Amino acid sequence: MLRIAETLESQLRAAMERAFPDAAAAARQAGPGLDPQLAPASKPEFGDFQANGALPLAKPLAQPPRKIAEAVLEQLKADPAFTELCQEPQIAGPGFINLTLRPERLATEVQARLGDQRLGVPAAEQGAPVVVDFSSPNIAKEMHVGHLRSTIIGDSLARVLEFRGHPVLRLNHVGDWGTQFGMLITHLKQVAPEALNTADAVDLGDLVAFYRQAKQRFDEDEAFQTTSREEVVKLQGGDPVSLQAWGLLCDQSRREFQKIYDRLDIRLSERGESFYNPYLESVVADLDAAGLLVVDDGARCVFLEGVSGKDGKPLPVIVQKSDGGFNYATTDLAAIRYRFGSAPEGDGARRVIYVTDAGQANHFAGVFQVARRAGWLPEDGRLEHVPFGLVQGEDGKKLKTRAGDTVRLRDLLDEAVERAETDLRRRLEEEGRSEDESFIQHVATTVGLAAVKYADLSQNRITNYQFSFDRMLALQGNTAPYLLYAVVRIAGIARKGGDLEAGAGSEPLHFAEPQEWALVRELLKFDAVIAEVEEELLPNRLCTYLFELSQVFNRFYDQVSVLKAEEPARSSRLALCRLTADTLKLGLGLLGIPTLERM
Ligand code: ARG
Repeated sequence: MLRIAETLESQLRAAMERAFPDAAAAARQAGPGLDPQLAPASKPEFGDFQANGALPLAKPLAQPPRKIAEAVLEQLKADPAFTELCQEPQIAGPGFINLTLRPERLATEVQARLGDQRLGVPAAEQGAPVVVDFSSPNIAKEMHVGHLRSTIIGDSLARVLEFRGHPVLRLNHVGDWGTQFGMLITHLKQVAPEALNTADAVDLGDLVAFYRQAKQRFDEDEAFQTTSREEVVKLQGGDPVSLQAWGLLCDQSRREFQKIYDRLDIRLSERGESFYNPYLESVVADLDAAGLLVVDDGARCVFLEGVSGKDGKPLPVIVQKSDGGFNYATTDLAAIRYRFGSAPEGDGARRVIYVTDAGQANHFAGVFQVARRAGWLPEDGRLEHVPFGLVQGEDGKKLKTRAGDTVRLRDLLDEAVERAETDLRRRLEEEGRSEDESFIQHVATTVGLAAVKYADLSQNRITNYQFSFDRMLALQGNTAPYLLYAVVRIAGIARKGGDLEAGAGSEPLHFAEPQEWALVRELLKFDAVIAEVEEELLPNRLCTYLFELSQVFNRFYDQVSVLKAEEPARSSRLALCRLTADTLKLGLGLLGIPTLERM
């Protein structure tokens, strides 16, 4: 109902201006003018919206706010466009104005959405691209549950932004550069040289083990450290043998990552840390030219404003180590400059979003500040870190296998699907249904993966999240199976002979029951929810909405008859079913979750 809210807001503002022209003129001089403070009603009994704008006027006008509200109402009621939209407004409490839309307006709004694939969500004008930097695992390391969260949350945010019409660059900032390769290549030269010049000589599991050994040697053995550092320098200097070895190692990991992306239906463009290698030196030069660079103990750094360590001294972002090497922060600075920079050496972005664990918050705050001070952001440029909490086991500790190892993503997804299959087979038996194997596999895969994604997305991402197969696969509660089941229920109405298109014609829709109105109002919130997710980057808002919509729908469907109703109620109710299914399908789609017709 965003468009209705906008209309109402301007009607209210105009009424306020007519009622208090002097205050309006003063407010316009001081800023944007009088603000009706329109918000959705806090309780359904207050109507659809409330306007609180009379309260802040009490002081400047030296009048009780109720009197101010009365004067505004007087003017509002004289506006025919307003009376066509709303019922008689009410003043409540100290001076709130409660507004209830006319039922026929709500019905028209529902009808408009039946013919609208965007379900009332306006398409943004094509502007500058938005970069979403997400997933971003590290080569030669296993992708872990933190990367899974980043992948699922980042994909959903990208989908919402794309749906709103923004060109989105989905970037996989893989860790494919730096010291770890020096260690790995040095170690492999000694223990498994074939891995450095033959494709597929080792698989990712071996690579991870080799990496672990290399890291251990690096930490213990000084000679190994020196050789590893030399190896990094060779690689960064473009030595062909090192580059070939590096390429093979990256390919190996890449293939493994891709399997996870394919299973989860994730699209990503890889642009790893190595991409920015050619730009690192000029980043440091730029910072120097901007007068930000300080040499401290041989290292080149930028001292942060307003961020100090325990000793009270400002903290630095180190951009070049004393040995000349660059680090993670330098690469991120180069990436920011590139992403906001203009083509051909840049993406021309206006908004850049990073989805990582909350542990990297200080890193991003630091590089964001440096980039701003260096003047790399366009005037309206936005840099946003989207942090998320840790994934924990049901015991509240870090998620581990029973043997105490880190959980491999492949195993985790397999288990979700297997459990979904077991649940499904049990349910089929209880219901005395028989289904063929391909149905069972399709439903189990869809439900299992949906459960994993939804459990992650439906949490407030900032808090730590407890991973529980039992909870995420439950048919009741705020879970993927519950939402998928609502869609299945509506598909079932069609199978029982309900023509879901019955209300989509030109005949006006008629609603009378409170359950119908509750569903109408819930359905019409969709556009506002999408706008909120686009702004605040919190997919859990969309989840909560879809869950509430399913609950309101289930109440409606349990308490009001649809198929056995008389016309015109029957068609109008079928229209509500159809719009509910469309909203759930679109909403789940934006979470990266496909729906089912039967389950
Ligand atoms: N590779 C990093 C990690 O595994 C995440 C990279 C996030 N993106 C970035 N531009 N720093 O923690």
